[in-house]
Amino acid sequence: MRIFKSSWFVAFSCLALLPALGATAAQDAGRQAADSWTPPAWAYPVMDEGRGRGPDDGTLHSVEGSDLQLTQTQINDRFAPPDWYPDEHPPMPDVVAHGRPPLVRACAQCHMPHGAGHPESSSLAGLPADYITAQTMAYQDGSRKSLVAARSASMIEISAAMTEEEMRIAAEYFASLPPVKWITVIETDMVPETYVGAGNMRHAEPGGGMEPIGNRIIEIPENSELAELRDSHSPFMAYVPRGSVAAGEELATTGGGRTIQCSVCHGPELKGVAQIPSIAGRSPIYLARQMFDIKHGVRDGANVALMKGAVANLTDEDILNLSAYLASLEP
Ligand code: HEC
Ligand code: HEC
Repeated sequence: MRIFKSSWFVAFSCLALLPALGATAAQDAGRQAADSWTPPAWAYPVMDEGRGRGPDDGTLHSVEGSDLQLTQTQINDRFAPPDWYPDEHPPMPDVVAHGRPPLVRACAQCHMPHGAGHPESSSLAGLPADYITAQTMAYQDGSRKSLVAARSASMIEISAAMTEEEMRIAAEYFASLPPVKWITVIETDMVPETYVGAGNMRHAEPGGGMEPIGNRIIEIPENSELAELRDSHSPFMAYVPRGSVAAGEELATTGGGRTIQCSVCHGPELKGVAQIPSIAGRSPIYLARQMFDIKHGVRDGANVALMKGAVANLTDEDILNLSAYLASLEP
């Protein structure tokens, strides 16, 4: 296990406290529910049958502020995804811009040239380089998986074919990028009807009505057409249940008797410390998946041991509330 430059001692002292919290009512409820538990579909989007893209009709697409004109086939090129605004980020290393056929797909295809990513993948901008490298290695050595295989399949395939040098180069690029505000969190009772389309992205159903949000986070593009063009100026909205942001804040800042204050390890503004990643202002459905994956033992790796104690006693509702709160913060 690696030694963190800071937080190390504090983190371990806190972990030692965890068993003392004992079994809580929430934990018992969690155990009873465990038999019938399935990973919540809102957090793990997988394309609905028959909702893929139609054939490319050859139309040239463009976005405001860019001179490029590209067909949908070019936009979805695994080895040359669009870079609509090349002046807005440092030059991309080859592995980020083009990957290495046949298996190493360009990182920019899913994580985007500015590293903000889409909710079904993840943001990478500004994460610690050592953390990013460690994660690609964890996908490669099989320790990081997902409760829903479709959510980790591409990273497992890509990282299996990567060299350590490529991992380091890609990591340094994304670590150098400033994280951008990319998600607006909206508390609500009702949400648009949605479907999961090509590339596993959730969208509002065209001409659809409204439905109760229930115990879900519904994260969709502000503009589905632009998001489909992989426009890095096209952000996301996350509808969350009323009261969830305050409930998440309470838990994150006090531990609520079920967990440890997140800031102990993730830093005072939750923007990360040393090798520990930022959890502020990132996709709430991404963050929720990670907490479920760690809690249920499919995401492992040397440093995950520190997180296991923090998620062990959390209920599904706690994870939803924490994700809503974290996404609402400045990245
Ligand atoms: C086909 C889409 C796709 C491509 C291409 C892709 N990724 Fe990913 N990446 C994902 C998905 C999906 C996830 C995980 C989401 C989850 O766990 O639910 C992910 C997660 C990650 C994470 C974990 C982030 C975190 O906060 O822990 C890292 C690191 C990462 N990718 C690096 C890379 C690098 C480096 C490349 C280029 C070599 C790359 N990815 C290419 C889809 C992609
Ligand atoms: C004892 C230290 C510790 C505490 C306390 C802690 N975390 Fe973490 N957390 C970590 C470490 C270390 C990682 C990265 C694990 C790895 O390297 O794979 C992590 C990763 C995560 C991730 C995944 C991030 C990503 O990019 O994939 C999320 C989400 C997260 N923590 C949420 C929380 C929340 C919410 C809290 C408070 C309730 C919390 N953590 C408290 C140490 C901690």
